[in-house]
Amino acid sequence: MTNNKFKIANRKSQIENQITDLLDPDKIKAHLKTERIGGKILVYDSTSSTNDIAAEYAKNKQNDGMVIFAEEQIAGRGRVGNKWLSGRADSILCSIVLIENKLNAELLSLTCAVAVAETIGRTGGSQAKIKWPNDIMLNGKKVAGILLESRSLPISPFDSAQGEKLLHAERRRGIKSKIYIAGIGINCHQKKDSFSVQIQPAATSLDMESNSVSDRILLAKRLLTSIDQWLETAEKNGDKVIDRWRELSIQLSHRVTLLFNGTSFTGHCIGIDPEEGLIIQLDTGGVRMFNAAHTIVAKPPA
Ligand code: BTN
Repeated sequence: MTNNKFKIANRKSQIENQITDLLDPDKIKAHLKTERIGGKILVYDSTSSTNDIAAEYAKNKQNDGMVIFAEEQIAGRGRVGNKWLSGRADSILCSIVLIENKLNAELLSLTCAVAVAETIGRTGGSQAKIKWPNDIMLNGKKVAGILLESRSLPISPFDSAQGEKLLHAERRRGIKSKIYIAGIGINCHQKKDSFSVQIQPAATSLDMESNSVSDRILLAKRLLTSIDQWLETAEKNGDKVIDRWRELSIQLSHRVTLLFNGTSFTGHCIGIDPEEGLIIQLDTGGVRMFNAAHTIVAKPPA
């Protein structure tokens, strides 16, 4: 080993020693009381995107409920083509394989958002809230995000870059895909300067909001338990998810501006439809629904 390589290896092991909550499948599984989620758990040290790994495992029906975690992603992705960047061992980065689905994409997306918001709960004294479709907010800043992708094998090959578009393309063609990958990123140990200057005003982490150090293993257990319970609830009675979403939404009863396929719409958010998405009373008159796959939430109107 050259001197430089030795220094790098030594530095890496120093960093590892400081991380006390490295993800470990056995620790996450210990006393995990879930029905469907987390029967199989894998932890990757580093991978491209956990959603890609999960999509591979989703080819086997027996992997329903499987969860893929990673300490680091080198090609993590967010909604609408954004990158999802995170330092090593700073976050919960995971993807859940959902093969046996009774829920449509919109309700599944709301269910995941409710489950993640409840997992984060009252960190730092404030209840985590949902900014439709899938941003989880703490004290007005984004602390977590969810990327729901579908695949429709064997009808057509899964194209990860097209994942979100596929959800709706399939619906229009009448093909009801039953396979979803729910990718979840929760910021845990980031500090202010972990985020780029541009996103610093809008991003936060659990540690920043609580002034303490979060325990990612405990959080992972709570997350899987919450997803498991809310999926079961949604399948039995979707209205319960809608009711909880209404309590946690930061947009309900507020003015919002949305970009739908590039066109801007402003109005009052009056509700959520479990199949069609956000319901807006438009300033220009009329009520219109906006689905998550084609809509971007713009900055709040002045
Ligand atoms: C968003 O808010 O834009 C969604 C972010 C989703 C990030 C997670 S991290 C784990 C999974 N793998 C990915 O590449 N993305 C999701």
